[in-house]
Amino acid sequence: MKLSQVLFSQGFGARRECEGLILSGHVGIDGSVHDDPWFEVHPEGLVFSVRGEPWPYHAKALVLLHKPPGFECSQKPKHHPSVMSLLPPPLRVRGLQPVGRLDEDTTGLLLMTDDGALIHRLTSPKKHVPKVYEIQTTDPVTDAQLDELRNGVVLHDDPLPVRAAACERTAEHALRMTLLEGKYHQVKRMVAATGNTVQVLHRSRYGILALPEDLKPGQWRWLPGPAAVLGTG
Ligand code: URA
Repeated sequence: MKLSQVLFSQGFGARRECEGLILSGHVGIDGSVHDDPWFEVHPEGLVFSVRGEPWPYHAKALVLLHKPPGFECSQKPKHHPSVMSLLPPPLRVRGLQPVGRLDEDTTGLLLMTDDGALIHRLTSPKKHVPKVYEIQTTDPVTDAQLDELRNGVVLHDDPLPVRAAACERTAEHALRMTLLEGKYHQVKRMVAATGNTVQVLHRSRYGILALPEDLKPGQWRWLPGPAAVLGTG
């Protein structure tokens, strides 16, 4: 693959802009400047640099973002900035999208990718990818509420009850819940159906992936591929 094609595929601008970046000596490989846009490279495993910033080649981008509060998952946000604004320009140019949505006030693990097939695979109701939420409530969490969440509660837009795959109290006003679906405001509506209210909502796990403790709100990192989320299965 030509070096200019590599930059183009990674979101560094229009073809002409990528050629310009290379011709003006802003692109390096292994510590030396490469100013030939037509230089042939093997992209898999390649780490190039643009203006000194290292950039690993990814045919498809998959990143994990620690979503802070005050950001919307929508492409066209209404009241708050989009989570897209937390990503660097090349990833925005590539059109990464959130895998499912977290509410504006929800924090935690959000996957983002430009791989449409992967989004479908991860969000398909048939796939049952577990998502773990840490919830703080207004009122104390009762045993009856935990039982209701485990046995299933009926939400107004669906006659079939939805149940938590796992549910435990973690403090007087806190619980941890695992869901296999991703319905609209599902956690808040399930907790409301038991007579309690979600005050703080945080997603700590998605599939086999846990939010890394050293990843601060607003920070993101690359994931090697879908196996990091789904395991080998
Ligand atoms: N359930 C909710 O109610 N909100 C979220 O952001 C995620 C799950």
